[in-house]
Amino acid sequence: MHLTLRQLQVFTTVAQHLSFTRAAEDLYLTQPAVSMQIKQLENNIGLPLFEQLGKKIHLTPAGEELFRYARNIFQQLDEMEQVMERLKGGQTGQLDISVATTANYFATRLLAEFNRNYSDITIKLDVTNRGGLLRQLEQNEKDLVIMGRPPEQMDLVAEPFLENPLVIIAAPDHPLAGRDGIPLSALQGETFVVREQASGTRSAMERFFSSRGITLNTGMEMTSNEAIKQAVEAGLGLGIVSIHTVARELQGGHLVTLSVEGFPILRHWYVVHRQGKRLSPAAQTFRDFILQEARPMQYPAREG
Ligand code: PGA
Repeated sequence: MHLTLRQLQVFTTVAQHLSFTRAAEDLYLTQPAVSMQIKQLENNIGLPLFEQLGKKIHLTPAGEELFRYARNIFQQLDEMEQVMERLKGGQTGQLDISVATTANYFATRLLAEFNRNYSDITIKLDVTNRGGLLRQLEQNEKDLVIMGRPPEQMDLVAEPFLENPLVIIAAPDHPLAGRDGIPLSALQGETFVVREQASGTRSAMERFFSSRGITLNTGMEMTSNEAIKQAVEAGLGLGIVSIHTVARELQGGHLVTLSVEGFPILRHWYVVHRQGKRLSPAAQTFRDFILQEARPMQYPAREG
């Protein structure tokens, strides 16, 4: 059966009016052109669709069935058109994003706000460390990635949108707590609870100290910021974390930041995708939203 949408459209119009003449007027066609389309449709289907009783035309049982289907088809087409329009406008669709473990502390708030504004965009969120993000970028697995310092060896589009200061945290009863202008050398006798090797926080911290010729005494290694905070609070050592991760503990007085020379290490969060990637309109909407929401800032020259 080789139906065309045009034939179905002509058929539906005739069926609505039960008149070839009025259908022709509606469709800006001549009446013979309408009759021709119906004839072809009937030939394609192999059944009569209309019957003439006296002056009036009626739908045959096959015509009734076809009318029912045709209405559904046109309703679906209307819906399809609307969805396509909304996809084009970035109002609906799916978003597959990935954020650094540390970025998740503010990313979820941004996502909640985004969801209030664009509730028809479905988001799939993956949370992983820097190593995981680099792999995902390499494989082009995600629409967008939120990470620290984008790698130089990959062709990326990376836009900074928020500062990410790394601070040294300690238990409130730590001997260095409350002291001002602690020299870096004073840290050499301390033990640090650190993130795993593939963490961006960890590599920024290592770059900072090695460029100053300082070797830190690293104790336990942990894959989560939460674990580090607990360990520091329990007195297992000092920690270096993003300020985003400790807002509550600082406010509640469970942890303090140390005032150490050169700190905080200033870093930034970037929204990143591969160069040449064709962002979906939903992804563009999300990127614009982030850049606008997380107020633009001054970017100091030093990048940790
Ligand atoms: P992470 O954060 O330490 O959770 O990997 C990424 C980064 O700070 O670059």
